[in-house]
Amino acid sequence: MKTPIIAPSVLSANFANLQADFEMLNNSVADYIHIDVMDGVFVPNISFGLPVIKAMRKLSTKTFDVHLMIVEPDKYIEAFKDAGADILSVHIEACTHLHRSVQKIKSVGMKAGVAINPHTSISLLEDIIADIDIVCVMSVNPGFGGQSFIENTYEKILRLKNLIERKNSNALIEIDGGVTLQNAKKLIDHHADVLVAGNTVFSSSNPIETIQQLKSI
Ligand code: DX5
Ligand code: ZN
Repeated sequence: MKTPIIAPSVLSANFANLQADFEMLNNSVADYIHIDVMDGVFVPNISFGLPVIKAMRKLSTKTFDVHLMIVEPDKYIEAFKDAGADILSVHIEACTHLHRSVQKIKSVGMKAGVAINPHTSISLLEDIIADIDIVCVMSVNPGFGGQSFIENTYEKILRLKNLIERKNSNALIEIDGGVTLQNAKKLIDHHADVLVAGNTVFSSSNPIETIQQLKSI
């Protein structure tokens, strides 16, 4: 079986001691650091923004996978590049001119991702899938860590895999929300490439081992 890319979500980290949590992540087999930016408008929660990501960048050499849950993301694409993002995902529901947003992300030197809410149909990706590097499939309603996984995601990612193959796209399938040691294998069997895990990693008594377990599941 293929090895998944593991992306711990620092939304569940200890913000009063990020240094300790980043040390743990540096010593782990985590591939990406998943970074959730929430504006209190697109989602009913506010997380953190550019200065915090800049500070995190100094603590890590891992790939920064930044998930923007904000309205008008186009305004901030360059700023997130400057803050240290390697992959930048915007929500399909927040972008009127998604193709333009994707081209802009790529033009400043980042990988481009599109995040898609649980109720949004995969068919809306038909004309953008060949242009993007990753699809962040929301398996919870965005806004909070620690929510339960929405079971419809399995069927949804099978449809996404089909679209990716049909369009000869290289896009990775990322699952975001409610990923656990129990559902990780089934997700990989359904062609998930990247597993985001917040609560599962940071509520573990041994996060390094939990990340290893997700990786080798
Ligand atoms: C939800 C965020 C997720 C969240 C995942 O809005 O996009 O990335 O941090 O957290 P868990 O793994 O706890 O569901
Ligand atoms: Zn996320």
